[in-house]
Formats: sequence, structure tokens, C-alpha cells
Amino acid sequence: MPNSEEYIKMDHEYGAHNYHPLEVVISRAEGCWVWDPEGRKYLDCLSAYSSQNMGHCHPEIIKAMEEQVKKVAVTSRAFCNDQMGPYLKKLCGIVGPHVNDPKNSGTMALPMNTGAEAVETGLKVARAWGYIKKNIPKDQAKIIVCRDNFHGRTITIVGFSTDIQHGNYFGNFGPYTPGFEIIGYGDAQELEDTILSLGPENVAAFMFEPIQGEAGVKIPPAGYYTKVREICSKYNVLMIADEIQSGLCRSGKLFALDHEEVKPDMFLLGKALGGGIYPVSGIVTTRDIVGPDVIKPGTHGSTFGGNSLACAIASKALDILIDEKLAERATELGAYFMEGLRKIAAKPTKVPIKEVRGRGLLIAVEFDGNARQFVEHFKEHGILAKDTHLTTIRFAPPLIIEKEEIDWALEQIEKVLLA
Ligand SMILES: Cc1ncc(COP(=O)(O)O)c(C=O)c1O
Repeated sequence: MPNSEEYIKMDHEYGAHNYHPLEVVISRAEGCWVWDPEGRKYLDCLSAYSSQNMGHCHPEIIKAMEEQVKKVAVTSRAFCNDQMGPYLKKLCGIVGPHVNDPKNSGTMALPMNTGAEAVETGLKVARAWGYIKKNIPKDQAKIIVCRDNFHGRTITIVGFSTDIQHGNYFGNFGPYTPGFEIIGYGDAQELEDTILSLGPENVAAFMFEPIQGEAGVKIPPAGYYTKVREICSKYNVLMIADEIQSGLCRSGKLFALDHEEVKPDMFLLGKALGGGIYPVSGIVTTRDIVGPDVIKPGTHGSTFGGNSLACAIASKALDILIDEKLAERATELGAYFMEGLRKIAAKPTKVPIKEVRGRGLLIAVEFDGNARQFVEHFKEHGILAKDTHLTTIRFAPPLIIEKEEIDWALEQIEKVLLA
């Protein structure tokens, strides 16, 4: 069997270098822990960017997957299957009460696979709704997004990214899709001003992350969600919440918007919906927005979206989020983790810590300088975490983590960071 070094060499030789991973090879995982081929054990503090909310290889999700895969896995949407309906019914039942539905039209979902596909789906549905329901003149629909957003990496999505290294990352894929307007994150006044300057009759949607994960766990000012809701309702603009990273209990509530009890018109979901073992995403919105008068057969879809295996897995993943009270755990353990990190930040560290912030178990430590060096050292101390935007390290372990494991992690983090 090859060793870690040999696996890394193969990645480099045969795989495009579209990532710059930490030099660790994971060959086994369970709960919050992962192992490399040499048997070294690491605490996963990234959770595959919040895909592992229920922990790696959750036995009940594995069981649901094994039972389903033996029966039927993928048939395409050319036929119906016996898993999609019950899954979507459950998803709409759980998410529906969090969706704004002033016309009481009911909740509907559109299943896809990856996060970027859920985002593309949301954008297409918003434009179609804009033309069909809001009577926006042909090809004039505008969608407003936020500075420093991260919604994925398709051409349309990277076209409205303002990644700090735009030139390096997303500069070479033009021409981009028109119709997007970028405004400051957390600034409700700018949202209203922009809607007015574009002409409210042309604006289909405002899409944003309730917590900007990739930008370094940025949390907007208190009251922002509420104001966004008011503005979107006032001008009949769809409020689209990309909760692909912040949703499904990560922030200590089912959705980050629940912290202000605000209901968007549409949720974009992914990552943890796949139970940490399969790509499952989708949008959840109202029948008024995605009903048969807006989305007709053939206008959107995916060979794999809504397949039997995906639906069986996602259905079990939803059960686990609720049965294991993962939102409550994220609140309690997130507070505990952040308190420990703040104690470390108060001591003299090799690079001063500017801020420890977060919500639930979506936590960031922002340094007054380069943070990548620490990520390498954490690995040597058995902690896997990743820097984002050079100066920030995100800590987002599976929500099933125990206090003792956090204590152990804090000891290692302190060893690495103290001056
Ligand atoms: C908020 C948000 N939206 C969309 C995506 C894209 O998801 P995927 O990588 O599954 O396409 C991500 C991924 O990190 C994300 O954090």
C-alpha cells in the first residue's frame, strides 16, 4: 500500500492543481476523528466545510445508505422513484415553517447535488419568477449580491465574486454572466438604495450568506436580517438565503436566519444535507415561486438530482439533525470552544489575535498577520483546520464533538499559538 507521501505525489502528478491542500492524507474517519495511512489520528476541525455536521460515517446514515444502494441508487428523473417524494415531503415539512409564504401557497423543493448547483438553481428560479410573476421586462432582471461572497465556482457565480485575490482566482474565466450587482455586506441601507437606483421593478432577488463562511465567518450587525426582510418585502424582491454552510444546525439554530426569526423566500441548502457521505443540495421555497407556472419540465434539472440514494441519505441526515439535537449542541459547545479560544487570545501569542468570533460551532480566529504557518503546526499536533483569506483560521468541528475533545483541542491550539 502506498504511504502518505506517495499518495500526495500521485495527486500532484495526475490531478489538476485546483486546490492547495494541507499535506495530510486521510484514509479513514469516524465521528470527529480522521486517520492517515500511517495510523496518525487527527481531530477534524473543518468538517469538510460544514458537510460533516453529524460526524464522519454516522452509523445510521451508513445503514440507510447501504440498505438503499442494494435496492436502487440512480434512475434519473426520466422516471419517478420511491425515495424522492417522501424525502421532499420531510424536507418541506422541516424547512417550510422557516420560509416566508405570505400567500400561503405551500412549500416546494428542487433537489440538486452540489452547493453551486443549488445556487445556480436559485438564480434561475429567481429570474424566471421575475419575468413570469413580477413582469420584469425580458432580459432586464437584476440580482443583488454581497461583496466578499462565496457561493461556489461556476462561471456565473465566480463572475459576481469579489474574492480578494480576484486576479489570481477568478480573473480568467470571462466573459461573465451579466445582471448582477454587488453591494456591501451587512449594509441594509445600501441594499435599499441599490434597489431604488436599479429600479425596484427590475430587481428579482437579493442573495446573501447569513454568515459569510469563506470570507472568514463574518457576521452582519444585529438587526440586518430583519431589515433585509422588510426591504425585500417592500419592493417585492426575493430574499434568498444561501445557508449551504451556515444552515442545518451549524450556527446553533436550524438556520442562521433563525437568530433573528427571519424567514427568507428561498433557502439554498447543501453540504450537511448529504449526511457527510454524498453530495445532496437543493432549494426550498414556496409554490408561488417555484410552482408549475414558473418551472416547467425541461427548464432545469440534473441526471443525479433527487436520485434514490441521495434522498435516502438526506432523509436520514435530517432525522439525525433533529433527533440528536445538533443545534442545541452547536450552541453549547460553540460557546465553550469560543470561551477557550478567547482565553488563549488574551495571552501573548506568536502573532497577536485580533478577534475570536463565531456563532454556534462556526468559529473564526482572526490574526494580525499570516495564519497559514499555524495551520501546518496544528496538523503536527493532531488538529486539522484551514486558513481562509490568509489571516483567519476557521474552527468548525462536527456538531457531535464532546467537551473533552474541545479541551484537548484547546491544549494543542495553545501549544502552537503561545509566544
Ligand atoms: C455559502 C456557500 N455557498 C455555496 C457553496 C458551494 O458549494 P459546493 O462547493 O458544494 O459547490 C459553498 C461552499 O463552500 C458555500 O460555503
